[in-house]
Amino acid sequence: MPPDRPVTLLTGATGFLGSALAVRLAEQGDTVRCLVRGATAEERAARLRAALDGRLAEEHRHRIEVVPGDLAEERLGLPPAAFEALGRGVSRVVHCGARVNMTLPYQSLYGANVRATEDLLELAEARAASFCYVSSLAAVGRGVTGEPFELTAPVSGGYGLTKWSADRLVSVAHQEGRLRAVVLRPGRITAHSGTGRSNPDDLLEGVIRVSARLGLAPVLDTRIRLSPVDWVSRLVVALCGTDRAHGQAYHLIAARTLPWAAVPAALRAAGYRLTDLPYPRWRSAVLDAGREDPALARIAHALPGTPLSFDDRTACEPRNAARTLGGDHPEPPSAERLLEATLGRWQLAGELPRVP
Ligand SMILES: NC(=O)c1ccc[n+]([C@@H]2O[C@H](COP(=O)([O-])OP(=O)(O)OC[C@H]3O[C@@H](n4cnc5c(N)ncnc54)[C@H](OP(=O)(O)O)[C@@H]3O)[C@@H](O)[C@H]2O)c1
Repeated sequence: MPPDRPVTLLTGATGFLGSALAVRLAEQGDTVRCLVRGATAEERAARLRAALDGRLAEEHRHRIEVVPGDLAEERLGLPPAAFEALGRGVSRVVHCGARVNMTLPYQSLYGANVRATEDLLELAEARAASFCYVSSLAAVGRGVTGEPFELTAPVSGGYGLTKWSADRLVSVAHQEGRLRAVVLRPGRITAHSGTGRSNPDDLLEGVIRVSARLGLAPVLDTRIRLSPVDWVSRLVVALCGTDRAHGQAYHLIAARTLPWAAVPAALRAAGYRLTDLPYPRWRSAVLDAGREDPALARIAHALPGTPLSFDDRTACEPRNAARTLGGDHPEPPSAERLLEATLGRWQLAGELPRVP
């Protein structure tokens, strides 16, 4: 029987952004076919359940399907019949899954980030399904202005280059009339504005937590943007759901920036005593502390030797989403209030130390 509601094939549903997308898509009534890796059906279901973490109300859970697939394997690691079944009834592909790793070279990331995109484009084309690709601002070169659909000059760095390659595959497939596609390019995605739930791998948020923990704040000449995951996921779902978005790209970042200095100021306002240190000295202190504490070691290893910068690659203020969505375009929450609220939520959740 054909399903009553659209079937969306979603990749990356066990991840930070993808799990938020799975919840939103199911809540709006889609059947969400989540491609999840794992050795057995039980393991895959358990991994997705853990990622959704009770966020999906009982009444919507029947809309989630879990299907096997490994983005790093040729044709998603599926035999032909299973690959064919994956696309059955699908009217839209939301491709959010990727190996997000800033240190590995292009070749190591190619399978999961580029070849899998080709496989999914083929599947979408065969089903006349629309294709929503979650790309990244890491794919956009520094000189690029506006929000071009087709990227030209490649970027450097393995991860950024895989996202650039996949981004181009998608825009070219659209230009050739093989399918209807929309490209979504988030910048740094920050903690949920309502719950404070954050990406444990995010460097900015890691630096904030470490500063509170050690009572030491780096002095940085950089600006930050807060683009909470609930706001980004809302934009992704809204833009994937409108034909007006086809053939366009969207840079999904909050327009407003804050100076880094707003972070130590907010930590002090939350009750922490902080000593300001030049970045090289602050980094040494974190590296020292990381030798004894695995949680700190994770951030310490990610700290670059050159001054830390959280500036996004794009200089422009993103406008395309507001143009396409008009009155339905959600504004991101005020950055100052969001920072303060997030620190409060992390304190309550025990993710920040108790105030001395
Ligand atoms: N987070 C950001 O700040 C940010 C910024 C810009 C763009 N993006 C883009 O947004 C998307 C989601 O990012 P995220 O931060 O949510 O990343 P994430 O938390 O690391 O999630 C990545 C997702 O991709 C899946 N995946 C990776 N390799 C796979 C494989 N071989 N087979 C099947 N699934 C695989 C992961 O599944 P497993 O659970 O099995 O590993 C997970 O569900 C990515 O496309 C990323 O490029 C993110």
